[in-house]
Order: sequence, then C-alpha cells, then structure tokens
Amino acid sequence: MRVTILGIESSCDDTSAAVIEDGVLLSNRIANQQVHAEFGGVVPELASRAHQQNIIPVVQAALRDAGKTAADLNAVAFTRGPGLMGALLVGTSFAKGLALSLGIPLIDVNHLHAHILSLFLARRGETQRFPRFPFLCLLVSGGHTQLVIMKSPLEMEIIGQTIDDAAGEAFDKCAKVMGLPYPGGPMIDKLAATGNPDAYAFSRAVISGLDFSFSGLKTSFLYFLRDRVKEEPDFVNAHLEDLSASIQSAIIGSLTQKLIRASRETGIREIGVAGGVSANSGLKKAVQGLGEKEGWQVYIPALQYATDNAAMIAITGYHKFLNGEFSEQDITPVARFDQL
Ligand code: KG4
Ligand code: ZN
Repeated sequence: MRVTILGIESSCDDTSAAVIEDGVLLSNRIANQQVHAEFGGVVPELASRAHQQNIIPVVQAALRDAGKTAADLNAVAFTRGPGLMGALLVGTSFAKGLALSLGIPLIDVNHLHAHILSLFLARRGETQRFPRFPFLCLLVSGGHTQLVIMKSPLEMEIIGQTIDDAAGEAFDKCAKVMGLPYPGGPMIDKLAATGNPDAYAFSRAVISGLDFSFSGLKTSFLYFLRDRVKEEPDFVNAHLEDLSASIQSAIIGSLTQKLIRASRETGIREIGVAGGVSANSGLKKAVQGLGEKEGWQVYIPALQYATDNAAMIAITGYHKFLNGEFSEQDITPVARFDQL
C-alpha cells in the first residue's frame, strides 16, 4: 500500500501544505503573509486571519500539484506547536475537520522535530544525501536554538539550548536596531556578503556546557551603535555592510563553538543544521569549513525546506504514521515547547 500524507503548517506567518508519498515529496505550497511587513514583526491576530484566508487554497494547490485528491490521503499531519496560539488553531482545526470528514487518522507534529526531519526531504530525482543515525543537529530558528542528538527519526535528545534569545531572534533584533525591515536575518546575510566580519568586535556571552546565550550580544550591539551614533549620526547607514558582517560573524561564532564541543563530547561526526537560520550563507560556509577540519559529514536543507514549510510536517507525519503514532480528535495546539 502506498502511504500518502498531507502536511499542514500554520505556526507563525507562513500558511503551508505539502504532500508526501512513501517518503518522497510530491508538493510543497507556501503562502507568505505580507501583512506584517509594515509592523516590523509578526502581528498574531493578523497572522490568524491570513491563515484562515489562505488555508483552503493552499491545501487545494498542494493536492493539485501532487496530482492527488483528498480521497488519496492516508493521514493528515499538522503542526501542534510551538508557535502562535491563534495561528496554530487555524491549522489544527482544519486538519481535524479534514481527517474526520475523510475518516483517516490525524497526526500531530512538533514543529522543531519537523525542522530537523527537513534534512530528509527530497523530490523524486533530487539528490538524496541524508544523515545517518545517530546524528547531531544544530537547530536554529526564529524562536529556538538547540543542539539535538537524533537517534532515529522519532527519537531525539536535547543536549543544549539557548537560555534567552534564539539565534534567529538575535539576527532579527540586531537588524531592527539598524532600521532594517522584518525579518532581518536574510537582510543581514545579504549585507554581510560585502562587509568585513572583523570590522567590529562585540562581547559574546560565556556560557558553560552546551547551552547558548544571545541577549548579551544584542545588548552590546545596541550600546555600541548608540555610542557611535552620538558621534556620527549617519554611522549605521554608512557602515551597514561591516556591521552586518560583524554581528553575523559573532552569532555564527557562538553557534559553531558549541557545535564543535558537542561533536567532540559525543563523538558524533554526522552533523545537521536545520531551521530558518540554516539558510544563512555565512553559517553554511562556516559549518562546511569545519566539516573538512573536524572530519564531519555535513547536511543542510535546501533553502525552500530550511524556513517554515509543510513538507517537513508531512515527512515527520510519515514517520509517525509508520510507527502508528496518531492523535485523537480532542487534541489541542500548544504554544510553548516545554509544554509539548
Ligand atoms: O524556522 P523559521 O522559518 O521559523 C521559526 O520556526 O522560527 O526561522 C525564521 C528565522 C527568522 O529569525 C529569520 O530572520 C531567520 O530564520 N532567517 C535567517 C536567514 N533566513 C531566515 N537568518 C539569517 N540568515 C538568513 N539567510
Ligand atoms: Zn520554524
């Protein structure tokens, strides 16, 4: 029997639907929400409304792209959390209704687990180079920064995480103080390409073990800019590239330092990087470079699978389906990771 799974993602500001058949990706539709741009960040109420408007057309388009109809589906997988409650409710309610009406199982998916399994996404004919278990994953997104040992597709152990801001949040907040639009991560990445990463040094927090901290870096960046702007009002605009390259280098330095330590401590050399920040070209280059030095096999998702998407929800749903892990109709979304 073929196993065909519909995945639905609505945890933040992207409404997405995807179809996976026997572990192979058939379609992945994403509707980005433009309504937040003018507010400098995601407005939860606007996100929920946009999900409501987008979800039916996005699901229809994903089925159409896959050459499937709802009757072909074996299960509906959806993001249960973490994320914005109102946004999660739209995807959860839609998934429940669809599964109930089709008489097929419902599968809840942890968004962070799904980011990690994005390393296993491929369409037919796409290069298939997947991590071997156990592998170590640096998960870096807008809301989370974690070091995770993946023992199998469904078994994960968190061995380190941020004690304050996430890496993506650090990018976005530093971009905001430079007056760049939200989300700032991709903007900093672009500007950094022509800047000098050693132009400025910002104090990095020293945190024991495998945990991370980014709030000190953000504060140090803020105070540095404030002092410089006093002397030279146009300082930020005049040095955007160097500032971007320097802050990016500081964030990457904190991430790779702990990744090296985790690999040496665990002896694991199969290394994955996942989550929105894995799209950062400086981080990719740094981890690839370390791969050569440390003898790592490095896996980083293609850009379309790095940021939020439903393909990663569908592949996680596929593995849960194979393992018989289903949800009941009374399941509710969960906003925070520690409550999942
Ligand atoms: O995984 P994701 O799409 O959503 C969450 O689950 O949070 O991650 C979004 C985060 C944002 O903070 C965004 O600025 C960051 O990923 N991001 C980047 C880049 N592309 C996305 N950060 C740095 N460089 C990039 N190229
Ligand atoms: Zn995400």
